[in-house]
Parts: sequence; structure tokens; C-alpha cells
Amino acid sequence: MNYKKIPLNERIIVALDVDSDEKARDVVKRCESHVGYFKVGLQLFMANWFNSVDWILDRGHKVMLDLKFFDIPETVKLAVEQVNNRGVSLATIHGNDPIIRAALQAKGDMQLLAVTVLTSFGEEDMRAMGMTQTVEELVFYRAQRALELGCDGVVSSGLEAGRLRRDLGEKLLIVTPGIRPGANVTDGGDDQKRIVTAERAIGDGADHVVVGRPITQAADPVAVIEQMQMEIEKTIAE
Ligand code: C5P
Repeated sequence: MNYKKIPLNERIIVALDVDSDEKARDVVKRCESHVGYFKVGLQLFMANWFNSVDWILDRGHKVMLDLKFFDIPETVKLAVEQVNNRGVSLATIHGNDPIIRAALQAKGDMQLLAVTVLTSFGEEDMRAMGMTQTVEELVFYRAQRALELGCDGVVSSGLEAGRLRRDLGEKLLIVTPGIRPGANVTDGGDDQKRIVTAERAIGDGADHVVVGRPITQAADPVAVIEQMQMEIEKTIAE
């Protein structure tokens, strides 16, 4: 595997799923000795708009803005215009063709990631919607289209990262949430369904892993980060 040259402190993107700027700053301060990449999602953005984003950027860290835009193409384009050129490194949109095309027109200096299928969405949810494909097939199809249309990368679970990397090549940026610590994890014990370890996700070809609760709710977040980074480093060196 040819791993991209990404600093170890940017491999894990810590998801700041908290309800206030104060709590977000607290998590950043606790993690920043080891991590320089943070994800601002819907909860924190709704609470605090761009204030947390700007504060994190001012501290010299990178930001993934995970608002998963999904609307008519023109509205998505206008929303992406509100985000571009403010220092955000990665932004997320839903992965269907018209949305991707519109967002690409307005991405400025950001990299755009198409969400393939949410990691909380499993095979039984596909069946319940009357879909006959497997999750893997749907993820692969959406990722392939995103790449063909010129998207920088995709958000995909660790279960599909290997196939995406193998069949779609090295250029595609793969960002993987649904990470849980511990060998042979199959159940996160929460809403996430398609989960893997950080080590497996990176080993299979993900460029970054997004980790929220296993770090933010840990008694010792740095210990969890150190353990994951050690495993990631070992995988990359092998
Ligand atoms: O706490 P946990 O590690 O499950 O957090 C995962 C984060 O990644 C959440 O912020 C969630 O919104 C985000 N995410 C995800 N699945 C996707 C895209 C984003 O879990 N497909």
C-alpha cells in the first residue's frame, strides 16, 4: 500500500460533537498536543456558527466542516460559497451527481468530500427502504461517481475503504468515521453500525479516521489518541 504522506497528528480527525464553543475549546485544548485536525459538525455549528471554526483555525489547526449539504444544486452551491476561502480544509456534501457538480463550482480552496452511505446505516436499513443492493455496492457506486465528477474524496466506513482504495486508485481521499477502539470490534454499542478500528481503516486505505465519542467521552482522551496513533504508525510502517 502506498500511503499518502500525512503527518501522524492529522491522521485522526477528532469530531467535536458538543453543544457549546466552551466545550469544543476544552476538547481541542486537551487533544492538541497530539492532534491537529478537528471536525465541526451540525451540533456545534448550529450552536456557534463559524466562531469555533475560526478559533480552531487561529490556533493553527485544520478543520473539517461536516455539514453534509443536501438540497437543490443551486442552494448547495450557494451554501458552499459561504464556506469556501475561510481556511476550512475539508467540507462534506451528499454524494449524488447534481449536488456534487454544483458544489464543485464553488469549492474554492477547500477539498470536497462526498458522503457515500452514513456509517450508522446498515444492510437492514437498505432492505427496509426496499433497496436490493448491498451497502458496499451503493458505497462503491457513489464513490466512483464522485471521483469521476471531480470530487476530492469520499466519506466511507472502514468496511468499504479497502475496496475503494484498491479499485478507485490512490488519488481519492478516503475519510472514515465509525471508528471504535479494540480488536475485532463489530458493535459500537451506540448508533454506529459499520465500525472498524483505526488501525484497520488506515491499513485498508483510509487517509484519515474521524473519531468522536471514543476520544471525547474518554476519561483520558490523550491515552486513547496515543494508542490509536501507535497502531496507525505500526500499520503504515508494515
Ligand atoms: O462519536 P463517533 O466516533 O461515532 O462520531 C463520528 C462522527 O463522524 C460524527 O460526528 C458523525 O456525524 C460523523 N460521520 C459519521 N458517518 C458518516 C459521516 C460522518 O459517523 N458517514
